[in-house]
Amino acid sequence: MRDWGVPRNPTRDGAGEAPGAGEAAEGDMVVKAATLRSDGAAALEWVARYLEDVGSYPVSPDVAPGEIARRLPAKAPEHPEPFEEILADLDRVVMPGITHWQSPGFFAYFPSSSCPPAILGELVSAGLGVNGMLWATSPACTELEMVVLDWLVDLLGLPRHFSSQGTGGGVIQDSASSATLCAIVAARERSLAGGARLEQLRLYASSEAHSSFPKGAKVAGFAAEQLRTVPVRADFSMDPHALATMVHGDRAAGLAPCLALATSGSTSSMAFDPLASVGTVCQREGLWLHVDAAMAGSAAICPELRGFQEGIELADSYAFNPHKWLLTNFDCDCFYVKDRSALIEALSVTPEYLRNAATSSGAVVDYRDWQIPLGRRFRALKLWFVLRAYGAEGLRRHLRNHLALTAALAERLEGDERFVFCAPPALNLLCFAHVGGDEATEELLHDLNASRRVLLSHTVLAGRFTIRCSIGGTWTDEDHVDELWRLLDELAPPASGRRHPS
Ligand SMILES: Cc1ncc(COP(=O)(O)O)c(C=O)c1O
Repeated sequence: MRDWGVPRNPTRDGAGEAPGAGEAAEGDMVVKAATLRSDGAAALEWVARYLEDVGSYPVSPDVAPGEIARRLPAKAPEHPEPFEEILADLDRVVMPGITHWQSPGFFAYFPSSSCPPAILGELVSAGLGVNGMLWATSPACTELEMVVLDWLVDLLGLPRHFSSQGTGGGVIQDSASSATLCAIVAARERSLAGGARLEQLRLYASSEAHSSFPKGAKVAGFAAEQLRTVPVRADFSMDPHALATMVHGDRAAGLAPCLALATSGSTSSMAFDPLASVGTVCQREGLWLHVDAAMAGSAAICPELRGFQEGIELADSYAFNPHKWLLTNFDCDCFYVKDRSALIEALSVTPEYLRNAATSSGAVVDYRDWQIPLGRRFRALKLWFVLRAYGAEGLRRHLRNHLALTAALAERLEGDERFVFCAPPALNLLCFAHVGGDEATEELLHDLNASRRVLLSHTVLAGRFTIRCSIGGTWTDEDHVDELWRLLDELAPPASGRRHPS
């Protein structure tokens, strides 16, 4: 065999020494596939027990910065360690620093939902360990993804052209941020191909758009002055007339409007930009319309909640995150395009080492051309497991339960003179404040979270400090929302006057 010049047993100060005591002899497999059976059973038991008990953990950890890192050795182990020890350190070292996103008392940000079938889908994906960068590198990885994303077009009532049977298609990205970046790059390339210069291009989104929009624009090479912030109406949705005025003004100034991003379910307040009017402006003016429905998109599985999708057929691209509200654990973003060739032309770069007969035949989809990285995990498995294990009707029931819990809490807040809504309650998000003002609201949020029974987050709406409560946890039920209400009732000071007299 050819000697590649690689030391057999490299050490810091020498090479080629004989294995020392406790070291694996050359050729030994330290971990055998069969260990998955024994160690895997213990790991699965650990996860099952964790999820059964997750409601009993304080939702947020009580650790200082650096505390977890200090519990870990400064160097990686030189010798193999038994799996039981690794698992024991999970409890001893890692768990004290965990924020329990799966806790039924987690109401912060947006949910990052998970469920047993999704966890098992991840497990199988890890076991197969395939890289589906090309159809040829694992045909089932690509084809299952295409079919599952087509199923979702149907289940969510999305336009047919988003399906692989039409002009477009869907692909799983890691996150909504990546979907936005891909949309910006595709729009940029389309405008450049139409003769515009990069510095002429302008991108539009409302002041309530997610921060992944300016970030994506920055990554795609846009300067800050190329981004236009469209004002919002009283309900925090984009003002489409203001968009039209800005686009006209830019065109009149010799600039090249390129893309508008509309949000269906904004992060701060779950506001819905009016897709039909925004889409009409985009169509008339030749802008790419990307719709970011990261959180709210899952709601469309319930036909009665599809109103926000009116006008969606005008979108060039659309994204939502099953990892937020459709039980499919992070990461899983479904990104759809109306015209797949626009995306592929923007993102395809083909070196010799990726050429293959299937690609050349033109008969296959190579998802590497639909995303920024080359390699890709088999994420469709977990989505497939979830869709099959729950069925559309199980998923609808799950979401409707959250909506009922949210409505019940909204009623309690509305009936209590201490609280005021800062935005209209929408889907599973409540944005409220204490009538006493920012200081009282901030103190209330602090006290709620300090209980460590619940975790909520905040935003600022129309200049007002606002508590956000998002009800979407897999294990969140009536008892947990009742407990949240009990805490709110106990910790909120009276409407007039202070809880702690000075
Ligand atoms: C509307 C919206 N868009 C984008 C994102 C970013 O999502 P991701 O973490 O998948 O990039 C979020 C996150 O909450 C969001 O609410």
